[in-house]
Amino acid sequence: MDQHIDYKKSKIHFDGICIDDIIKKNTTPFYLYSKNVLSNNYLKFKQAATESGIEQSKICFAMKSNSNLKLLKQLKKLGAGCDIVSGGELALALKAGFKGSDIVFSGVGKTPQEIKAALKADVYSFNVESIEELKQIYEIGKKLKKKPNICFRLNPQVIAKTHKHISTGNTTHKFGILDQDIIKAAKNKKWWSVCQLKGISIHIGSQLTCLKATKQAIKNLCECALAIPQDVSFLDVGGGLGVAYRPEEKNTIPNVNEYMSLVYKTINKNFKQMPEIVFEPGRIISASSGIFVTSVIRNKKSDNYNFIIVDGGMNDFVRPSLYNAYHEIYPSKKVTSKTKIVTSDIVGPICETADCFGTNRKLPALKAGDYIVIADTGAYGHTMASNYNMREKPKEVII
Ligand code: LLP
Repeated sequence: MDQHIDYKKSKIHFDGICIDDIIKKNTTPFYLYSKNVLSNNYLKFKQAATESGIEQSKICFAMKSNSNLKLLKQLKKLGAGCDIVSGGELALALKAGFKGSDIVFSGVGKTPQEIKAALKADVYSFNVESIEELKQIYEIGKKLKKKPNICFRLNPQVIAKTHKHISTGNTTHKFGILDQDIIKAAKNKKWWSVCQLKGISIHIGSQLTCLKATKQAIKNLCECALAIPQDVSFLDVGGGLGVAYRPEEKNTIPNVNEYMSLVYKTINKNFKQMPEIVFEPGRIISASSGIFVTSVIRNKKSDNYNFIIVDGGMNDFVRPSLYNAYHEIYPSKKVTSKTKIVTSDIVGPICETADCFGTNRKLPALKAGDYIVIADTGAYGHTMASNYNMREKPKEVII
């Protein structure tokens, strides 16, 4: 059971709020977020950094995981920065109240227009993903008489164990720059007449449930930072810490404290003194702060299969279809010893077989009018929604 989802008087609640009450005022499907849970996740992350021994930490929330304006404002209020990857995210970050100095700009495909906008906003750093990109930032910076803050994203050549679509730290991936190329560029005085080299970063993948590759990547990050002539003011260890989508993962995957301790120890051992550490967490902050609520349209029996057809589809929430991701699914009413359980596939209305939120789930015999809750959908839920099949994007409701 997700720690924020429970049943009171047999009705499902999220962060203490009865979803029956929310559903009366909102048509399904919708995302429901808890500011409370989001804030706690952020504060826990920040505190874990401090407790590990990292005195200066900058937590830049990866807003691609959740870009709800109210939630972003809440994180800003708590002192977070943000990690952006597009001009659209930059505009939203500024709208949410983030200052340029709160923002790190990642991404392999920054356009000249996006670079200009980020320079005008005086972003904390351009996390540069190629020497070709550095050249462009240099030229635009020179033209605009700006001094762009540069952080090289190192490709640490490690293999992070996660879904292949979201593993990003190896030579075969489009991300980051190899260490020898960073060292060469750092020694080329031309760039540094305009740009300022502030940091080195890594991001080796997302939903990391084992820290072995992370440790190696941080070691490589330190070695790279020591091999360049400049003294960097920060090291950016990226995001990627995984969450327990399956209940049995709760005790097996590293928690925030274990992660922070690894970050601290690895940098302490491999770098000269502890610089500012930048983090770019997304999922670990936002996943458990949201649920997806969708109503049952009807049940369909076919041969030995039972399909529960719901009004949400893969356009609303794509993780199961795209990454074969597992998310817990809860019925609106508590299951008791008397409940008849039917093994079912939970599917949406979209014309693709991939439009399926879960197979072989043991759920009550749900019927039209019932609803289900898909857990831990606060990250990469609404931000990945589309209008596929000419459907409206789902609403976002905040507790
Ligand atoms: N920093 C950079 C440069 C990133 O590319 C990402 C995620 C993050 C930070 C945040 O990673 P997180 O802490 O959330 O793992 N749509 C996929 C995840 C894609 C992640 C892309 N980059 C999913 O639903 O699993």
